[in-house]
Amino acid sequence: MSIEKPQSRVLSGMRPTGRLHLGHYHGVLKNWVQLQHEYDCLFFVADWHALTSHYEDTRGIEESVWQMVIDWLAAGVNPSSTTLFIQSRVPEHAELHLLLSMITPLSWVERVPTFKDQVSKNKDRDLATYGFLGYPVLQSSDILIYRAGQVPVGADQVPHVEMTRELARRFNHLFGRDAGFEDAAEQAVKKLGRKNASLYRELRKKYMEQGSEESLAKAQSLVSDSGNLSLGDRDRLLGYAEGSGRIILPEPQALLTENAVMPGLDGQKMSKSYNNTISLREEPETVTQKIKTMTTDPARVKRTDPGDPARCPVFELHKIYSDAATRDWVSEGCRSAGIGCIDCKAPLAEAILAEQQPMRERAIQFEQNPDLVRSIIAEGCEKARTQARATLEEVRSVMGLDYRSL
Ligand code: TRP
Ligand code: SF4
Repeated sequence: MSIEKPQSRVLSGMRPTGRLHLGHYHGVLKNWVQLQHEYDCLFFVADWHALTSHYEDTRGIEESVWQMVIDWLAAGVNPSSTTLFIQSRVPEHAELHLLLSMITPLSWVERVPTFKDQVSKNKDRDLATYGFLGYPVLQSSDILIYRAGQVPVGADQVPHVEMTRELARRFNHLFGRDAGFEDAAEQAVKKLGRKNASLYRELRKKYMEQGSEESLAKAQSLVSDSGNLSLGDRDRLLGYAEGSGRIILPEPQALLTENAVMPGLDGQKMSKSYNNTISLREEPETVTQKIKTMTTDPARVKRTDPGDPARCPVFELHKIYSDAATRDWVSEGCRSAGIGCIDCKAPLAEAILAEQQPMRERAIQFEQNPDLVRSIIAEGCEKARTQARATLEEVRSVMGLDYRSL
């Protein structure tokens, strides 16, 4: 993990909700697997977030945590190039959450759309709790404690990332202007070397006078790329470039996952609550069975009745799993009654099984060896903690809480 380029760090978390299904794979995991080749990635199990809504019955959480980690590994998340960990094993998240809660205006958390939404949608549960209200602040801590630059999330989570940005800005504004900030920043500019120092000054001026975002970005990458700066000087220069205080907590960007909604067995969105899922590591026999019993266009009562793929959930899945030629074959054959539904389902079942095959294979060694999974997580937690501690130490220091770690 590099400290020099926080914007290249990707962080995301998932609540442990039980075994993952193909909707999670197409919606999130496939993307994680891609990102791990390009960025320094941290992925974690947000077990404390599970508690914010499921505090009454916590029995399932432990099992869900381990099953979910196996699902990640099965999907191809590579523990040697990513850092995998469990939120509650990095207690630094909780301290940052507490500190950030002190500077979070009540109106910010109250206006987060998920709050009122969820409270009124989940009438069976009492979500009007202090913990649930603080959900986005906890999420902000998860992100800021690693100084993550990019946060892959679905559209529903974008307001949380937005609040994280506001909190970071507020924190930097409140605590990034130590006495003598300008002098210290000017000293730090000199450390860039003569050529880069004058380039930095020029870019800074352009941004301050003309608001050129491009100049700001250039100045900031000049600072990030400069190898011989201390962490403090780097943060000072990043902040000085945009006329704010030191940037202690950089603002992350949401990396919007394309939300091609994954259809379930009944044509609705695939979701555990609709009972229409195929799990990631489902047995081939039950996969085949589930496809076989899928309902089709009700117009096709007899084999000779023509149908309409637009009214059939099977075709929705073909859109995800089949190439254009197969889809044409389906459309044509369905409308002309040239093929039967059993024929139509066969290549679909095959494609799903083929997609799952490597996942099932990868999962075996982890299913058979829980210690292996535990040691992957132990190592990830250790790595994550080192990063989290470094941020927290700086946070304590600028807040005047140094005595806390002496
Ligand atoms: N709130 C996210 C969800 O429900 C999970 C999450 C918790 C998360 N902390 C995070 C996602 C930090 C991204 C970054 O999906
Ligand atoms: Fe659906 Fe295929 Fe049957 Fe047409 S042929 S109704 S698309 S399963």
